[in-house]
Amino acid sequence: MENLNKAIENHYLKEDLFEDIIGRLEEQGVDLDKVQRVHISDVDEFHVRGAIVSKELASSINMKGLHVLDVGCGLGGPCRMLADEYDCISTGIDLSNEYIRTATKLSKLVKLDDKTSFIKGDAVNLPFEDNTFDVVWTQHVQMNIPDKNKFYSEIKRVLKKNGHLLYYDIFKKGDIEVTYPMPWASNSSQSFLFSLENKNQILSNLGFSKVQTENQTKKGVDFFETLVAKLKEVGPPKMGLNVLMGETTKQKLVNLMNHLKEEKLVLQSGTYKY
Ligand SMILES: C[S@@+](CC[C@H](N)C(=O)[O-])C[C@H]1O[C@@H](n2cnc3c(N)ncnc32)[C@H](O)[C@@H]1O
Repeated sequence: MENLNKAIENHYLKEDLFEDIIGRLEEQGVDLDKVQRVHISDVDEFHVRGAIVSKELASSINMKGLHVLDVGCGLGGPCRMLADEYDCISTGIDLSNEYIRTATKLSKLVKLDDKTSFIKGDAVNLPFEDNTFDVVWTQHVQMNIPDKNKFYSEIKRVLKKNGHLLYYDIFKKGDIEVTYPMPWASNSSQSFLFSLENKNQILSNLGFSKVQTENQTKKGVDFFETLVAKLKEVGPPKMGLNVLMGETTKQKLVNLMNHLKEEKLVLQSGTYKY
């Protein structure tokens, strides 16, 4: 497990990420004393359809003032959105040292460090007491985690009774061959895709009940078609997911788009109550 976590951390690694983002803001003429969430929202939400989909997910329950844990928080964009727009107290946990360092500094930069905090840790061994959070939020993380049962059990353990799990994730349909690299994995040894049916079964066995789910596959394909066309036409944007995915950005996006188009992979968001 130690080796797998190292390999996954390496897959996501971008040295000096915060400094890179600052340099890009400066090149765009943004005053560093006046940086707002909107200036970084194209880079700090590392999932298909970025900031838009997080707002949709947040609107599925009354989030006002809740204590939220974001499992696999990346650069912390959703934690900051929930703190800023819903007055949530948000905690993010992630395997990546560099992402945690960057998330912490970005929160300070946009003056949301009083309501957000970020810690390094493993989703399958959460360093929190039982019954701590009103909401556990997770987007595009479980594909890196082999032990799904442990992943969702840990979420259940730290959720308060009547709390909610809000997720947005990628699932596989049937016994498919996947072409890598993907945004979450350089090769198959870092990727643990499972089916919607398996997810439903695990959540039901753990005592979760469904509030709502939405198939986001078509919206995801539309998003990618626009993005890939833009990449071809004008090249990589100054501030975008290319900052995180580096030279293999186009390959990763095209691979994921094709798998979604062929419905080998599906995107689903959902809200479950515990
Ligand atoms: C595709 S990114 C998504 C980041 C964030 N959820 C977002 O949507 O902006 C996947 C994240 O999951 C994290 N991750 C993968 N396996 C993890 C684990 N076992 N424990 C904690 N974080 C993990 C990675 O480090 C990475 O930041």
